[in-house]
Formats: sequence, C-alpha cells, structure tokens
Amino acid sequence: MSDITTQKWSGKVPRPRRTLLALFAVSCAVAGLVAIGCAEEPKEAEEPLMASFEPEVRQAANGMYIQRTPSEDITPSSSATAQYHHPVENVPYNTYYLKADERGCNACHEDLGALLDNSPYGHVKISNDLGIEVTVDQCFHCHTDSGAITNQQSFGAMIHGIHKDVENADCMTCHTASNNGNDMELWDAVKHHEMRGFTDIAAEVLGTFSFTQTGVDSLDKIAKMARQTAYLCQSMPSVGQGDASQWAITVSGDVENAFAATKEELDAEGQHHATMGCSCGGNPAGGTASVNAEVAGISVQTILEMARPNAEANTIVFTSADGYETALPLFYVRHHYSLIVWEVNGQPIADSMGGVNQLWLGSTPAFAYVRDVASITFETRQTPPPTPGLESRAEGNLPNVSVTEGTAQA
Ligand code: HEC
Ligand code: HEC
Ligand code: HEC
Repeated sequence: MSDITTQKWSGKVPRPRRTLLALFAVSCAVAGLVAIGCAEEPKEAEEPLMASFEPEVRQAANGMYIQRTPSEDITPSSSATAQYHHPVENVPYNTYYLKADERGCNACHEDLGALLDNSPYGHVKISNDLGIEVTVDQCFHCHTDSGAITNQQSFGAMIHGIHKDVENADCMTCHTASNNGNDMELWDAVKHHEMRGFTDIAAEVLGTFSFTQTGVDSLDKIAKMARQTAYLCQSMPSVGQGDASQWAITVSGDVENAFAATKEELDAEGQHHATMGCSCGGNPAGGTASVNAEVAGISVQTILEMARPNAEANTIVFTSADGYETALPLFYVRHHYSLIVWEVNGQPIADSMGGVNQLWLGSTPAFAYVRDVASITFETRQTPPPTPGLESRAEGNLPNVSVTEGTAQA
C-alpha cells in the first residue's frame, strides 16, 4: 500500500509568498506612518502564520501538481481584510472549512483507483487508461445504488471498519456536519459546492476530439463487456446453457395473432443486419463498458406486424428463459430500431454476450438488453412502464464509473 500515508502524499511545492500583506507593511513603513488604520491591519509578524494555512500544492506520482483547496480570491485592488468584510466573495477556504487540504479520501489516498488495484483482497478494476480520476462517488454506484454488491448501503460501515485505527482519520476528515439538516454528509460529496468550484492550476489544455459510430469491436472486446456488466449492472447471466439452434419465442397477450415460432421460423421471416451500440448506462467518459457490433436477428417491428397488438396495448414485456422480465412502453419500442439478435459479428451470440438470443434496443442503455428471450407479451396497463434511461437522465449526475476488467485483480 505504497500510496498510503497518514496525511500528505507528497512534499509541499514551494509557492510564491502572498505579497499582499507585505505590500501593506511596506506602504506603512514608507509613509513613515503609524496611522491607526495601518496599525489595525494584520501585521508582518502574522504573515508566516497566515501562510501556513495557504492551500497546499501537492505533486502526484505522475508528476502532476494538484491543489486540493482553492486559493482565496484576494485581488491586489481589494483590502487585506476583504475576507472579513466580504466573506461571500473572499472565502478563506482552508481555515473556514477547517484545514480543507486534510479532508476527504484524497487527503491520504493519492489515487483511489490505484488503491483498489493494489488491494490485497483483489477488487474489480475501475481505474482506466484515459486518466479519468476515480472518486468516492463511484464507489456508491456498486456499493450503494446498484451493481454487484449484495449487501447494499454497507459502504460506510466497511470504510469505518477499515479506518478504525488510522491515525488522523477522525470523523470530520471524511465528513462534514453543519446545521443544514443533512446529517453527516461526506466531505467529498459537498466540497465542490462548499468551496465553490476549483482553482485551475493546469496550463491551457488543447486537443482534438473525434468519434466514429461505424467501427465494430472485436468479439473479445464484446465478450469482455459482457463480463463487465456483471459488476456494473448486476447482470449475472446464467445463460449459455441452451442449444443455440433449438429455441423458440411465444408471443401472446393483447394481440390479434398469438403465436409461437422457432428460431428457423423467425429466420425465415427475414434476417435484419445492423451495426448497433451496447453501452452500460452507468458508463462514463473513459468507461469501457461500451461496444459497437455487427448484429443480426429478427426486428421487433416484424414481430409486431405478425402479432398485431390491440390498439389499447401500451406495454411490451420480454421474459427470459429464467423468468427475468423487462417491461417497456410499446410506443418506445415502436420508435426505436430493435432486434432480437442471435448473431454478433457473424458468430452465434453465445460466443460473446452469452445466451441464445438478446434484445438490442437502439439508443437505449444496455440494462434493457434482456438475454434468452423466451416470451413476449403485450399488455394494457393503467400506468405503462417508464421510458428506459429517463429516470437516471433526469437525475442528471451519473457517477463516473468504469470497469476495465471483468475479474478481480489478484
Ligand atoms: C486520514 C487518512 C485517511 C483518510 C482521510 C482516508 N483513508 Fe483510507 N486508509 C488510510 C490508511 C492509513 C489505510 C490503511 C489502513 C490499514 O491497513 O489498517 C487506509 C485504507 C483504506 C482502504 C483499504 C485498502 C486496502 O487495500 O485494503 C480503502 C478501500 C480506503 N482506505 C478507502 C478510503 C476512502 C473511500 C476514503 C474516503 C471516504 C478514505 N479511505 C479516507 C488512510 C485514510
Ligand atoms: C463496479 C462495481 C464496484 C465499484 C465501482 C466499487 N466496488 Fe468495491 N467491491 C465491488 C465488489 C463486486 C466487491 C466484492 C464484494 C463481495 O465479494 O461481496 C467489492 C469489495 C470491496 C471491498 C472489500 C475488500 C475487497 O477489496 O474485496 C472494498 C474495501 C471496496 N470494495 C472498496 C471500494 C471503494 C473504496 C470503491 C470506490 C473507490 C469501490 N469499492 C468501488 C464492486 C465495486
Ligand atoms: C475514512 C473515512 C470516514 C471516517 C473517518 C468516518 N466516516 Fe462516517 N462514513 C464514511 C463513508 C464513506 C460513509 C458512507 C456515506 C454514504 O454511504 O453516503 C459514512 C457514513 C456515515 C454515517 C451515515 C450517514 C448517513 O447520512 O446515513 C454516519 C452517521 C457516520 N458515517 C458517522 C461517522 C462518525 C460519527 C465518525 C467518527 C467517529 C465517522 N463517520 C468517521 C466515511 C468515514
């Protein structure tokens, strides 16, 4: 655990001394005045004390300089006492928020991703090659909100246990408590709000941006994505046992023509081919749980034409061989290109995603990509199911989580 120290993870970088107080002292001295106004300003003798509270600039192992607490905004035109007279504009962050440099997970851990990569227990790898920072809110994605942990809401208890005997890890190194009614908030969750943003000390960053939607990932990459979803989406498929050529789908419910059809019969209705994406909804910039594939199968549109749902039907339910159900609004499925897929990159889907078939839905997070579809039913519900993805988009702040390996790193 080489990156763990009880406090600072690298030496302090020398910074130019704050010149403002020095200027005051000089102007008083030059004028030869011991005017009352001057005498009441902070004295030269206090400067080393003030300077000791200045935000630190630390150097990370990769050479990058990081200032974890913003600088106070005292411009030369304002008074040295501005922070007392105008506390809203001039927040003395490092004292106002009680040694902010020494708070939050990164006060002691330079890189939470690397910490997990080096964990003696092994942990699913969430650090990524694009240098996207692993932050503590990413932990909640699996440990609190969804994902692979059976014992949800246990993250705090686990972190408390790990740090029980850690020197300096008192409650307020990780938390903040005020009278705002929000109890023991995590400092890392509120720090940007409390400290009103960042002080950007990076040089100007220039780059180019490009993307493609026509590229197709290799079968290996697609299979890896399928393993990643086991952690990200709690998709633990017991799939792949069935005979890839011997499955059938029954279609029933509020339809004119209920029917059952084998794979061959569906194939005979006409195979559709498309390049489609499959991407985890909790997948961020830098997240690798995202693939493009050349898929083939029967379009759900064809199934709709064969089944002829009643005019009032508003819900379509896909049920897997193991009983797992995904209900979607019928209008949504009508308006998104969707296929029941059995071939990926020209190979049986068992070779990559697993299972005998899978629903692929255009422009939809992959949690709706139900595998081993065995029946499709049409229903008329009083409240149709929600549009996929809309809820999390309304929350607007998806955690920045990626899983770069589907297995624990021993
Ligand atoms: C005051 C310093 C300090 C703070 C703040 C701190 N940690 Fe730690 N952390 C440590 C130390 C020291 C250890 C090693 C403890 C041990 O081995 O007994 C540790 C261990 C860990 C481990 C176990 C690592 C392993 O490989 O077993 C995890 C995970 C962890 N910390 C996560 C966090 C998270 C998440 C936060 C913020 C919520 C946090 N830490 C805040 C000092 C700190
Ligand atoms: C993609 C899902 C995922 C994310 C994100 C995630 N974890 Fe985990 N974590 C797991 C799984 C799965 C386990 C194993 C749980 C089990 O075996 O029941 C685990 C276990 C742990 C353990 C127990 C010891 C170990 O290493 O197995 C610690 C400590 C831990 N996680 C810390 C963290 C911290 C800190 C973060 C955020 C920086 C984090 N985890 C983010 C999935 C995740
Ligand atoms: C090393 C970091 C760390 C330290 C030190 C720490 N906590 Fe926590 N605490 C956490 C994390 C992480 C959570 C989980 C937060 C979450 O799930 O949103 C948590 C959760 C909590 C919660 C539940 C908060 C809620 O809103 O449900 C309470 C209460 C709490 N801690 C109290 C304490 C007290 C009291 C101390 C000191 C004795 C302490 N913590 C020390 C990291 C820490």
